[in-house]
Amino acid sequence: MAELKINGKSVQVDADNDTPLLWVIRDEANLTGTKFGCGIGQCGACTVHINGEARRSCITPLEAAIGAEITTIEGLDPAADHPVQKAWRELQVPQCGYCQSGQIMTAAAALNQDPNVNDGDIDAIMTGNLCRCMTYNRIRKAVRKAAD
Ligand code: FES
Repeated sequence: MAELKINGKSVQVDADNDTPLLWVIRDEANLTGTKFGCGIGQCGACTVHINGEARRSCITPLEAAIGAEITTIEGLDPAADHPVQKAWRELQVPQCGYCQSGQIMTAAAALNQDPNVNDGDIDAIMTGNLCRCMTYNRIRKAVRKAAD
């Protein structure tokens, strides 16, 4: 048994220390907005915040998250009103939607730390988050809008 802090709440989890945080979040905390894509840290679908930093939960063991503040898409802004989420809605970014929680969490972590980003910064921030529907142009515009 371990205790995690997810979205400001204590969550008791029953999983081995080396269990990927992704599965703890989905199966133990029942927060399914965080998605499994590749499982090897390559696609970004599983991105959550750990102490405010964007992290890939599929390659983060449970033990590395004990004592940390974990934020998932469900906890980014309970009203889904974070500037990144608002920009995503206004520009209708998603197509199939599968990768989008990871995209939003990556963008939000970066803009929370420094909202003064230029186009080159945005490309560098988002380059590791893949989208099979190729929504990259809308993603770029939405991050720019959220940063304004
Ligand atoms: Fe974690 Fe792809 S599922 S990076």
